[in-house]
Amino acid sequence: MEVAARMKSIPPYVFAQIGKKAKALADQGVDIINLGIGAPDQPTPRHIVDAMHEAIEKPANHKYPPFGGLPEYKKAACEWVKKRFNVEMDPATECTSLIGGKEGLHHLIMAYIDKGDICLVPDPAYPVYQTSTIIAGGTPHYMPLLPENDFQIDFNAIPAAVADKAKLLIMNYPNNPTAGIADLAFFEKAVAFCKKHDIVLCHDNSYSEMAWDGHKPPSIFQVKGAKDIAIELHTLSKSFNMTGWRIGFAIGNPQIVKALADIKSNVDTDVFAAIQYAGIAGFEGPREHIDFCNKLYIERRDLCIKRLSELGWDVKPNKATFYMWLRVPPGMTSEEFCNTMLNTAGIVVPPGSAYGPGGEGFFRMSLCTDKDRLSEAFDRMQKHSITYEMGKTPVK
Ligand SMILES: Cc1ncc(COP(=O)(O)O)c(C=O)c1O
Repeated sequence: MEVAARMKSIPPYVFAQIGKKAKALADQGVDIINLGIGAPDQPTPRHIVDAMHEAIEKPANHKYPPFGGLPEYKKAACEWVKKRFNVEMDPATECTSLIGGKEGLHHLIMAYIDKGDICLVPDPAYPVYQTSTIIAGGTPHYMPLLPENDFQIDFNAIPAAVADKAKLLIMNYPNNPTAGIADLAFFEKAVAFCKKHDIVLCHDNSYSEMAWDGHKPPSIFQVKGAKDIAIELHTLSKSFNMTGWRIGFAIGNPQIVKALADIKSNVDTDVFAAIQYAGIAGFEGPREHIDFCNKLYIERRDLCIKRLSELGWDVKPNKATFYMWLRVPPGMTSEEFCNTMLNTAGIVVPPGSAYGPGGEGFFRMSLCTDKDRLSEAFDRMQKHSITYEMGKTPVK
């Protein structure tokens, strides 16, 4: 029962692997603190849950939903986009529903990448960009995200021959895993680059609402002319604490949106209608829960900065996302450090190398855990002498 050759070309999904290791320790009775997960810990807001209750009672919603999303859902999504970013999208032709951002990314890549095609992906990055490119038979070309460039892509560093051959460029700001941010001036460069080289530009705006300290993440469509070449993916997972519900949407160039919707109509039958009505309640409801969650993330970030600096880390406060992208102690690899954290302190943190070769030397800590548990994690690090200087002594 030989699996397809493509199965051998894809690395195992890193979070599943980490989960397995952590579970094995938990089964032995270790109290694991998981700082690896990128999912809001707070529940879905009440008004969204109530809308779901109401919608699920209606038999009409028990049927197959229309391909591409309910017109009401797409209208509400586009109105939210207009209110939030002041950009106009036609719900009928410039918007399609998604079963979450991950699904949208995979199918967009399948719609544009053929065998041998180049997809420009950031390094480090959310692993799906690379993996789905490989599944499609394409070749990912890494665009390094360097601390000295504030984790922004340097378009001048992409060789012209690669740029001319590339079909798709994926970028994501606010960024997972680096927490890097971008402003409109950067987005203008991205649009100009993709236009010059005839590349479809996909902006993954999954963390658009998770920002503070004066940063308000823009949409790529705030750049004049972006609609000629771009698509932007949004998920309700992070903005509305709806990770398990599996719902998102894509907006942008009608041809690109249609290509994505066409491939989707062949392989999935869209989002359960009741969940789309719950999504509408999210778009139309109050924003207080977003501010509430962001306040929690800021408090946790500040606690992490205080405790990490006591342990020798020099940390720059992140202005967006619930991730901290931290250097591993000099003298250790990312994996060595993360194994030490798990095996000696029972703390799960993913190694930076799991997000691409450019992530080597870093690890990611998420802020989706309450302050008591975070404090407990730092107490354990202190107890086991896990400090920024630890790599200078031999690791046992
Ligand atoms: C950058 C980025 N894009 C997309 C996703 C996918 O989110 P979902 O499939 O829950 O919408 C994630 C999830 O962590 C992410 O970090």
